Amino acid sequence: MGTERAMVLPLFMFFLVSTVSVRAQRTTTTTNFTFPGFSGNESVIQVSGAATIKPDGLLRLTDRNPDVTGTAFYNKPVRLLETNGTSTTVASFSTSFVFVIIPTSSGNGGFGFTFTLSPTPDRQGADAEQYLGLLNKDNDGNLTNHVFAVEFDTVQGFKDGEDTTGNHIGLNFNSLKSGIQQPVAYYDNGNRLEDFLLERGDPIHALLHYDGPTQTLSLTVYPASLESRPLRPLISQQPVPQLVGILQEEMYVGFTAATGRGQASAHYVMGWSFSSGVDRPLANPLNISELPPAPPNTAMERGFDPQILALIVALSGVTLILLALLFFFVMYKKRLQRGEILEDWEVNHPHRLRYKDLYSATDGFNPNKIIGAGGFGTVFRGSLSSSSSPSEQIAVKKITPNSMQGVREFVAEIESLGRLRHKNLVNLQGWCKHKNDLLLIYDYIPNGSLDSLLYTRPRQSGAVLSWNARLRIARGIASGLLYLHEEWEKIVVHRDVKPSNVLIEDNMNPRLGDFGLARLYERETLSHTTVVVGTIGYMAPELTRNGQSSTASDVYAFGVLLLEIVSGRRPTDSGTFFLADWVMELRQTGDILPAVDPRLGFGYERGEAKLALTVGLLCCHQRPASRPSMRMVIRYLDGEEDVPEIDDHWGYSDFSRRSKLEGYVSSDRADSSSVASFSVTRVSSSSVIMSGR
Ligand SMILES: *[C@@H]1O[C@H](CO)[C@@H](O)[C@H](O)[C@H]1NC(C)=O
Ligand SMILES: *[C@@H]1O[C@H](CO)[C@@H](O)[C@H](O)[C@H]1NC(C)=O
Ligand SMILES: *[C@@H]1O[C@H](CO)[C@@H](O)[C@H](O)[C@H]1NC(C)=O
Ligand SMILES: *[C@@H]1O[C@H](CO)[C@@H](O)[C@H](O)[C@H]1NC(C)=O
Ligand SMILES: *[C@@H]1O[C@H](CO)[C@@H](O)[C@H](O)[C@H]1NC(C)=O
Repeated sequence: MGTERAMVLPLFMFFLVSTVSVRAQRTTTTTNFTFPGFSGNESVIQVSGAATIKPDGLLRLTDRNPDVTGTAFYNKPVRLLETNGTSTTVASFSTSFVFVIIPTSSGNGGFGFTFTLSPTPDRQGADAEQYLGLLNKDNDGNLTNHVFAVEFDTVQGFKDGEDTTGNHIGLNFNSLKSGIQQPVAYYDNGNRLEDFLLERGDPIHALLHYDGPTQTLSLTVYPASLESRPLRPLISQQPVPQLVGILQEEMYVGFTAATGRGQASAHYVMGWSFSSGVDRPLANPLNISELPPAPPNTAMERGFDPQILALIVALSGVTLILLALLFFFVMYKKRLQRGEILEDWEVNHPHRLRYKDLYSATDGFNPNKIIGAGGFGTVFRGSLSSSSSPSEQIAVKKITPNSMQGVREFVAEIESLGRLRHKNLVNLQGWCKHKNDLLLIYDYIPNGSLDSLLYTRPRQSGAVLSWNARLRIARGIASGLLYLHEEWEKIVVHRDVKPSNVLIEDNMNPRLGDFGLARLYERETLSHTTVVVGTIGYMAPELTRNGQSSTASDVYAFGVLLLEIVSGRRPTDSGTFFLADWVMELRQTGDILPAVDPRLGFGYERGEAKLALTVGLLCCHQRPASRPSMRMVIRYLDGEEDVPEIDDHWGYSDFSRRSKLEGYVSSDRADSSSVASFSVTRVSSSSVIMSGR
């Protein structure tokens, strides 16, 4: 019984002290809590600002956003004032917490946090940066603040001369101006002071004890990784008599934190215990292994840790290699685009030119450089600068065949055509294949085509191509054709003899261009289709029947051209007029001379005109076999041989010449009215590509 009473009485007394404090001399209550992590304690921890309790149980006071504040207070007030008679004292209290500060980058964290005794459970109006979410610039230092804080400041020199080192701990009374401060360090058990960084990114222990009777404070901070707690506190028996004047009846305990504009850290509290209201309170020790895991240290290293350095070097190396690969890939793509990746067959062709050179020669195929556009392609003027000759004028013909299939064979032929050299041929300098384009490079001949001389110029300047010039041109063309047909190592059929393919030099020397080009289109023969390429009016009748080009069909075209040169008339109009038939009719009336271009007036040699017209008719014979060879044509024209009589079978061809040609007729963009633009390779009257089964 006696022992029972002895047990009950203290409990009863304890009850009275706790709840009915007014009755007791001592006005303190007991506060004793432990948060080994804060999961489930949202209702007792009052957070504001950036502060939050993370799902993993960590209390985060601030993240690393600039210029934020965050506070977290235990939501019940603690009573620390004791009244004994007339004197008031502060009761002892003890707290322990584990925190982590993770800076943005090592050495660049900010600003810091405090453990605070505050009259309110938040810090409304408090500022960030050096005010640590505790005070602001207006109330800093005001005695009405009633705050006591232990600051863990990581920024140096903000309040010059006051916070002497950035990494420090200070005791603050109503002000951020620390009353007492110490660089952060701990005493190892050999009693040596060891510095360490607050913003190290690792958990740090803090123990704070206030002893009421002696009005002294002691503080220990140490890395949680230490094997044992330092025995000697960093701040020991520090007298803090100011506390009595600061504390109010009810105070809230908690934390404030802030970041700065350029300097920001995430501030975490991993666990917290507090005890007060008993004689010798001792906050529950926190066992780090029972706390939530520390937040990952994501601070960017700024130091020259050899491992980090090695990592950086390695990464840089990898990056460099990747960049190099990218570079070569891009170059490869570029080369590919410029067509410089060659197929096997393209190598070892002496006449192949580099696309790059052609590209720059024509200013990137600038439309301003176009000097002609015709049935087979567009012609650009360019200047090729080489080591031998400073700048050589060229004409680049850009052809886009319907398919590239025949190109290989064509190029083989071009290669040999490139060796053709005759004063009446436009020299083919080379070729280049680029994507789906075939580029042919010719000598640039500045004067113009026969087409423009015959039809355009007279109309504009009033000057008429003289008789002698006409004869000279006709002979020159004949000579060029003879070279193609007989004098070169193999027979070359031109396939598209017409005025626009004849270029005239200043001295009226004609040059025949585009030889063999039609072949490129003929080769695009589908298995069941015959493709005939040529120009209406110049196509021999047999071409429409068997599609077979031959030297004789060239002779036919030459005949039409010769008649055209003499008469100044186009070979056909919309289908009712046929030059050869017309000349033949005149011849049959006994006087062929009215066929001569009336613009010549009397400025021509009658005998020569008669001869030329007759040779022209002879060449236009319906039967290929009855047409003379180019060699004979030249002999006739030179008067070395008499022109034979034209036989009766000449004019069979009404049906053939007058049959409507069905097929694709490509007309030219650069029409004959433009004087200034002409070129070596202009295809100026329409070229025809006909298909038939
Ligand atoms: C505080 O509470 C814990 C249990 O939560 C207990 O172990 C400890 O002794 C108490 N401390 C004081 C001073 O009452
Ligand atoms: C914190 O929350 C946990 C889980 O809800 C609870 O067990 C513990 O008592 C709380 N601690 C305090 C001090 O309220
Ligand atoms: C109150 O003060 C007196 C002297 O100032 C002291 O003797 C006494 O122990 C004190 N009582 C308490 C409960 O602290
Ligand atoms: C301190 O604060 C009080 C109330 O907030 C104000 O009236 C007073 O002027 C302040 N004192 C100083 C020195 O700023
Ligand atoms: C901390 O907790 C772990 C596991 O709960 C335990 O093994 C260890 O002994 C504790 N350490 C201390 C100092 O209490």
